[in-house]
Amino acid sequence: MKDIVRVGVVGSKFAADFHCDSYSRNPFARVVAIAAIDNLEPISKKWGIPDTYLDYHEMLARRDIDLVSVCVPNFLHREVVLAAAKAGKHVLCEKPLATEIEHGREMLDAVRKAGVKLFYGEDWVFSPSLRRVEAVLAEGAVGEVLYVKAKECHNGTHSPFAKNKQTCGGGSLMHLGIHPVGWVLHLLGQSGRNKVTEVTGFCNGGAADNFVHKDNTGEDFGLGVMKFAGGQRAFIEGNYITVGGMDDRVEIYGTQGVIKVDLTQGSNVDVYSRPGYSYWIEKADNAVGWTKPAVDEFYNLGYVDELHYAVECVRNDVQPMYGCSGQLGLACVEIIKAMYGSSERGETVRGTWG
Ligand SMILES: NC(=O)c1ccc[n+]([C@@H]2O[C@H](COP(=O)([O-])OP(=O)(O)OC[C@H]3O[C@@H](n4cnc5c(N)ncnc54)[C@H](O)[C@@H]3O)[C@@H](O)[C@H]2O)c1
Repeated sequence: MKDIVRVGVVGSKFAADFHCDSYSRNPFARVVAIAAIDNLEPISKKWGIPDTYLDYHEMLARRDIDLVSVCVPNFLHREVVLAAAKAGKHVLCEKPLATEIEHGREMLDAVRKAGVKLFYGEDWVFSPSLRRVEAVLAEGAVGEVLYVKAKECHNGTHSPFAKNKQTCGGGSLMHLGIHPVGWVLHLLGQSGRNKVTEVTGFCNGGAADNFVHKDNTGEDFGLGVMKFAGGQRAFIEGNYITVGGMDDRVEIYGTQGVIKVDLTQGSNVDVYSRPGYSYWIEKADNAVGWTKPAVDEFYNLGYVDELHYAVECVRNDVQPMYGCSGQLGLACVEIIKAMYGSSERGETVRGTWG
């Protein structure tokens, strides 16, 4: 077993920050280097990272790095994962795995051939609230699950790359709806045995066809329905028209009960503020009046345990479970692309995904 997993991070902004935060909480992980095209000084100072690189290839050439965290815009995931695999590094890729299905397949092939592990970072799988839900379900508390409703929505992306359909791989359904898609696959997919057999999508068309974000070439409103071979259905939402802070919710309907989860706005702290204060939740416009400040947002969303899990897999040399695998990451991209096809053609698409 490895004592310490030495990590190199590619990217230096929003996602890189929560990766560094999560690794900093893990005594068995050390971020030894970071590579990006900007923001290197502030992030390396904040997290005490000794070495910085403007070219990630130079960082990958180091022999002492075990695991690479991929925190760059979606369209760059493929090239960084391929380069990391070629350099013999295990790699954890942020969502979505890729902007195109073919790229995702190529990435899975490359890591298999290189004999390195690929972790797909769906943080919902590691959210403490959703893991509690899994434990409650395992006891049979709501009987057989029939229907899951799940969404991630907010008021628009901060990243210019995510506004562009090509560099994002889609719009709000690809960028946000991918969380509930991935989590539902983890929950109901029985490690890839219970396949998705039907999907239907309803999306705005991007740009002028969007509700609000006319400067986004991807959609700002997306809905999808999935049907599993076992008969369960899931309704997925990912939109950029939700003001008032990031809104991640899950509802589960079973033969014997119901479960409801508020992942982002359900803090047990209530604040009423006349002048307002700096921050209560991601993507909120202000913190005036009544708010419920997140207590530990990164932990609650699952990032801390997700990266802890990847580090443990590297330390113990075990492959990731389905919920954190490239197989699941690829299935998410395939399903969302099928939802886009369905929305464009106005018909349900049948196939085998998972
Ligand atoms: N799991 C989640 O909830 C979650 C949340 C936010 C972002 N993400 C994902 O993380 C990824 C990054 O998102 P972000 O919000 O941090 O993006 P961002 O636009 O804020 O930052 C992009 C980063 O990529 C770096 N970069 C760009 N081109 C590069 C290159 N050629 N070589 C090296 N670095 C390069 C930039 O320096 C910057 O640090 C995206 O894929 C996004 O989908 C996931």
